[in-house]
Amino acid sequence: MTLMLADVKSLIHEGAELTDRALEELLPSVTTVPASIHGAMRHSTFAGGKRLRPVLAMQAAVTIAGSLPKGIERLGAALEMLHTYSLIHDDLPALDNDDLRRGKPTCHVAFGEAIAILAGDALQTRAFEALAGLACPPAATVQIIGLIANAVGTVDGMIGGQVLDLESEHVKPTAELVEAIHRAKTGALIRVAVVAGGVFGGATAEDVTRLDHFGRKAGLAFQIVDDVLDMTVDSAQLGKTAGKDLATEKATWPAVFGIEQSQRDATRLIDEAFAALAPYGSRAEGLKALARYLVERKN
Ligand code: IPE
Ligand code: IPE
Ligand code: MG
Ligand code: MG
Ligand code: MG
Repeated sequence: MTLMLADVKSLIHEGAELTDRALEELLPSVTTVPASIHGAMRHSTFAGGKRLRPVLAMQAAVTIAGSLPKGIERLGAALEMLHTYSLIHDDLPALDNDDLRRGKPTCHVAFGEAIAILAGDALQTRAFEALAGLACPPAATVQIIGLIANAVGTVDGMIGGQVLDLESEHVKPTAELVEAIHRAKTGALIRVAVVAGGVFGGATAEDVTRLDHFGRKAGLAFQIVDDVLDMTVDSAQLGKTAGKDLATEKATWPAVFGIEQSQRDATRLIDEAFAALAPYGSRAEGLKALARYLVERKN
């Protein structure tokens, strides 16, 4: 059984709705004091993200458990808060200096730089608070918190990748350098979304190894596609400033391999990622369809 594009879109839509409901519950209201920061956190969180990390976590859990485990939307919401925090900080003048995100003015444009920095920080702490209250066995909760903290951190994690990305502007990138940047700045959170979803669904150590293999490949493919879209799609469709990577001389996959090779590499990585899911048969169809969507998406 192979899911069609329409099925994938409804899978994403349903997962996004579950995630949004959980985010609505978890984020303080705009009238909660101090109101400015809650307005900023909500502005960026509800600006229209694709919610791909939560949906990946959900489908990884389905792959392991056979159906969607109750309460997983809070894991999805926590992943989305961490991702949104990374975007708010990525857009700051000191980093990529962007004024458009998810089709809206970036957090610092709408709320000022100080509140944007603090909104990013606050989304991060709120995410870990939500993770601490996950409805799964305590050992799984602790495992998930450890894995996610590591994936967001400095050693092969999101923050480390952002440092490498910034320090590699204006230098001629090598394949090794771009792979290290991409695996860390974007790949790590995608990979941990898959693994944490699996752990929530009751994954054994063997399952974790398989999901980790899949997540590593899919995470790298995701950022390769992000680089390609930056060069091939306009800002209106992207919801963020197109053509930025070339203008700021970022170390990207197309800068090393060209656009066509990049597209082939992303497709090949997804095919390789599928190998790890063979033991799960049709239970993994949702996860596989999502991975295909990661490389076929147009925004
Ligand atoms: C964009 O991620 C930033 C990267 C990590 C490459 P997404 O493409 O998932 O962005 P949203 O969440 O849909 O806005
Ligand atoms: C950002 O990569 C990755 C993180 C936010 C950690 P990019 O700088 O390429 O993301 P976009 O293109 O601005 O979304
Ligand atoms: Mg960046
Ligand atoms: Mg950026
Ligand atoms: Mg980009």
